[in-house]
Amino acid sequence: MKLFIDTANTEEIRAAAALGLLDGVTTNPSLLAKEIERRGRGRQEEIFAEICEIVPGPVSAEVLAADYEGMVREGREIAGIASNVVVKCPLTEAGLRATRTLSEEDIAVNVTLIFQPIQALLAAKAGAAFVSPFVGRLDDISAPGMSMVADIVEVFGNYSFATEVLVASVRNPVHVLDAARLGADVATIPYGVIKQLLHHPLTTIGIERFTADAKKYTG
Ligand code: E4P
Repeated sequence: MKLFIDTANTEEIRAAAALGLLDGVTTNPSLLAKEIERRGRGRQEEIFAEICEIVPGPVSAEVLAADYEGMVREGREIAGIASNVVVKCPLTEAGLRATRTLSEEDIAVNVTLIFQPIQALLAAKAGAAFVSPFVGRLDDISAPGMSMVADIVEVFGNYSFATEVLVASVRNPVHVLDAARLGADVATIPYGVIKQLLHHPLTTIGIERFTADAKKYTG
């Protein structure tokens, strides 16, 4: 399973990239707003360009337009920023039309804000490179987000779509485990959760004990 980081914070991206495990990045308008606030300045294009230089893998950048023409125009502009940009379009009628148009121009599209499996099927049929089911936001309303992912993986397994299932709105390490168990192609993970994945109290205790025992004979 590929691991993406879900943030626009370039410090977090650099730290995650330094681990050598980072396959890509997803951003969204809220994450960008947070990054611009953190810096106290900045334009989204500059931030996208910076992220694309840090990480060679796919970097998703979302269109803000709600209409088809606007999404296609913005999508083409965003795709011009770097060769690893993936244009994020929401799952709406306009978003699906824009996905078709952009993917026919060989621009990779990540269809976002997916909350049920048939939405993912429609996005795949429109030519999406990625579909992003939001598991945490479904869990938040007491609907099991991972069941949606299981359904999407099953449906995609029946056909030969090139579309990758990108598990989004990940909130904890169990979401990451479940995504891997289901065979999702990608999980996009906030930095805080990536850090949680790296630590286990028994690993820490184990190191402390080994170090203490080693000191007995190394002086
Ligand atoms: C995915 O690409 C989105 O940026 C993200 O996963 C949304 O997560 P949230 O529900 O925690 O905002």
